Amino acid sequence: MNEQISIMPSESPNKGEKHMLEPEHILSTNHANKKPNLSTSPSHTSSSNDSENQKEELFNGVPISKLTKTQMKKYQRMLRWQASKKDKRAKERLKTKDKKIKAKLLNIDLGPSRKQLKNSKMANSSCKIGVAIDLSFDELMINKDMGKVIKQILRVYTMNRRSKAPMQLHLTSFNGKSKEEMSKHNGYENWDMHFHENDYLEVFPKEKLVYLSSESNNVIKELEQDKIYIIGGLVDHNAHKGICYKKAVEQEISHGQLPISEFFDVKTRKVFTINQVFEILLKVSEGKSFKEAFEDVLPKRINMKPTSRSNSDELSSGDLSSSSCEKAETS
Ligand SMILES: C[S@@+](CC[C@H](N)C(=O)[O-])C[C@H]1O[C@@H](n2cnc3c(N)ncnc32)[C@H](O)[C@@H]1O
Repeated sequence: MNEQISIMPSESPNKGEKHMLEPEHILSTNHANKKPNLSTSPSHTSSSNDSENQKEELFNGVPISKLTKTQMKKYQRMLRWQASKKDKRAKERLKTKDKKIKAKLLNIDLGPSRKQLKNSKMANSSCKIGVAIDLSFDELMINKDMGKVIKQILRVYTMNRRSKAPMQLHLTSFNGKSKEEMSKHNGYENWDMHFHENDYLEVFPKEKLVYLSSESNNVIKELEQDKIYIIGGLVDHNAHKGICYKKAVEQEISHGQLPISEFFDVKTRKVFTINQVFEILLKVSEGKSFKEAFEDVLPKRINMKPTSRSNSDELSSGDLSSSSCEKAETS
C-alpha cells in the first residue's frame, strides 16, 4: 500500500533556507527507506478517488487547494526562494565561465581543474618522496595547540591535493587526541592521505627515515625520492626545544635541518610551522630550489638578507631539482 509522506520542513522558507528541501521532496512515496518517487508530487490518499488526487500537489502534507492563507503564503515564499536559487546558480556559473575566459586570455593559472584534481592522487603521482607527520606528542599539548596541529595538517593536505605531483603523505601515531580532533572533520577517512595508528618505526624501514629538526647539524641539500621525511606534529611555542632532534638521536635515525642558513643570514635557528616545512618540501619536490621555496613560503616580514653563498651556483635550482619529482618524471 502506498503511503503519503511529505518531508517538507514546517518552518518558513526564509527562516530555514539552508535546510529547506527541494520541492520534489514534497512527494508521495512507498514506505520509508524506499527510494522516493521524484517524478511526481501527486498524492494517493485514497484508492477511491485516485485520479482526482493524482493531480493535487502537497505542501507540508496538505493539498495546495486546501492550504490556509498562512500556509499559502509560506508555499509562495518557498516557490520564490526556489526560483531565486536557480537564478543565483545560473549567475554563479556565468561568473565562473567568465573568470576562466579572462584567465585564459591573461595567461593566469587558476590552479588544477576538478577533473585534474580527481586524477591527481598520491598513487598516480610521479613523486615518491614521503612525508610523515609524527603525531606522538599529543600528551605534551593543550587542546588548543592540538587543534592548531590539526589545522596545519588540513593546510598540508590541501596543498598536497592541489599539487600536480603530490608527495606521499602519512600521519603516524594517529590515535588518541589527534584522532579525536581530526574526527571533527567529517569524511576525513576518505582523504587521499595515509593514516597509521602505529609509530613511524613500525611503518617504515629505519634506513629510509629522516627526522626534520632545526636542531640537527646536518643540512639537507636535496630531497631523495625513496626517503620519508618526518615532521614533528607539535605546536609547543618552543617549550620543548629540540625534542624531535633528541628523539631521532635516541632512535638512531637520520636527521636534518632545512638549509635556510645556506641562503640567508639567520642569527638563530629558525623553527618553522608544520605547514611551512611541508610547503617548502613540496615546492622543492616540484622543482624549485630551496632558496626559491623559502622566498615563496616565509613571510616577507622575516627580513632575511641573502648571503653571498646564495648568489653562487653551488646550490643552484638546477642542482636541487635533480632530486625533484619533476626531474624524476622526465627521466
Ligand atoms: C613547530 S616545529 C616543533 C618544534 C619543536 N620544539 C621541536 O623541537 O621539534 C614542527 C616541526 O617542524 C619541523 N621543523 C621546523 N623547523 C625546522 C627546520 N628549520 N628544519 C627542519 N625541520 C624543521 C620539525 O620536524 C619540527 O618538529
